[in-house]
Amino acid sequence: MYKLRADTPDKWAVHVADHLDEFLPDHAAAERKASANAMHMVVRYSDKLDLVDAMIEVAREELEHYHQVFHIMRDRGVGLEPDEPDPYVNALLDHSRSTGGDRLLDRLLLGSIIEFRGCERFAMIGRELAKRSDDAELAEFYRVLAASEAKHRGDFYELALQYFDRPVVEGRLEEFLDVEADIVEQLPIRAALH
Ligand SMILES: [Fe+2]
Ligand SMILES: [Fe+2]
Repeated sequence: MYKLRADTPDKWAVHVADHLDEFLPDHAAAERKASANAMHMVVRYSDKLDLVDAMIEVAREELEHYHQVFHIMRDRGVGLEPDEPDPYVNALLDHSRSTGGDRLLDRLLLGSIIEFRGCERFAMIGRELAKRSDDAELAEFYRVLAASEAKHRGDFYELALQYFDRPVVEGRLEEFLDVEADIVEQLPIRAALH
């Protein structure tokens, strides 16, 4: 498996753990959008049955994450918020080509990278919360979530390798990893997934 090229700073996880009630609505929205994106792939690429099968599964798991975050929010008395644009995802999508096979390859690779970043960040939140005495249950939730996003990272990447030649996949991945590192390094520290 490839590696990301920029680390999220530790102070981001500290900030999120300090402002969890502010973070949770943004997290919930990210899960809901991930589910919707997977179902969009199902509709758009309905002739590719292995992709359809994998994306239905991803959509279901992301919807389950959304439901879990919703329950955590409800228990804490935190309401859902209107959608805000995600600056990280939108900046990445600006680099996606828009036609035919190029679009599919880009969406699969960006999907994998976005999942990878989610995995890194959820694991960081889990580790930060584990240091705090009253957040053990939530720390475990984020640890499990990180493992699920790691699986999705692989799902998108495997689909790219299934539908495109490896040198093409790896060449485009190289470009995206540099772009993603630049975008991540410019993100402000705030109580949001990105
Ligand atoms: Fe998720
Ligand atoms: Fe995911």
